[in-house]
Amino acid sequence: MKLAVFSDVHSNLEALELFLEHSSHLGVEEYACLGDIIGYGPNPNECIATVSSLENIDIVMGNHEWAILNPLEASLTMNPMAHDAIVWTQQQLSEQSRQYVSGLDYKIQKGPFTFVHASAFEPDRWEYLLAGNSAGVALCLLHSVSRMTFVGHTHRPMIADSHGESLIPTGRIKDGTTYRYSDSDKILVNPGSIGQPRGEFRKPSYITVDTASNEITWHRLDDYDPKRTVEKILATDLPAECAYYLNR
Ligand SMILES: [Fe+2]
Repeated sequence: MKLAVFSDVHSNLEALELFLEHSSHLGVEEYACLGDIIGYGPNPNECIATVSSLENIDIVMGNHEWAILNPLEASLTMNPMAHDAIVWTQQQLSEQSRQYVSGLDYKIQKGPFTFVHASAFEPDRWEYLLAGNSAGVALCLLHSVSRMTFVGHTHRPMIADSHGESLIPTGRIKDGTTYRYSDSDKILVNPGSIGQPRGEFRKPSYITVDTASNEITWHRLDDYDPKRTVEKILATDLPAECAYYLNR
């Protein structure tokens, strides 16, 4: 079975469509979306409709979906750019989109996989499991029954063991980087972000998991050109920084 895991689309329809086109050539049979379909970008309703219409997909709630449902808490905890984007997104969301978002789970466990946006430990605390946060990674995996736990939220590709040690240094994860897992592994894997890539990966990224060959592979969408998305962001009342991060 081949699974594609992606995260943090952030209302970027152009990057989402490019990812779906790219993954369609890889024999992907199932999808998992690790949350933050919305926020920052110009097409929240279109991205929710596109992701939710995929067959064989598991989707968990991200902090940007949570913010839609918990506006007061979000206003107190989110950074100003993220919060301003949420205020704009609130105004755009259709009732259908809002209903869809409100039905998402924080965490899904399925066979050897757990899908969660931030951490399997207190998923609604939205901790950032960056490389170097060994304690956070270890705590996450301690609270996951699965061999493989997939997280997003940081917008940075990563793979770490149950001690929180990186199995591949984040800066060395490139397009085509593959990790071959064993049955005894208990690992945390981050695919990076589709719609707002940060860190070393300046292009959208996702992973495939091939359960026949036991391989996890990162894919980077080098063909993504942010020009159209940037134009659309700047034509709205979204913060201009939302475009800046795409256009570096
Ligand atoms: Fe995000």
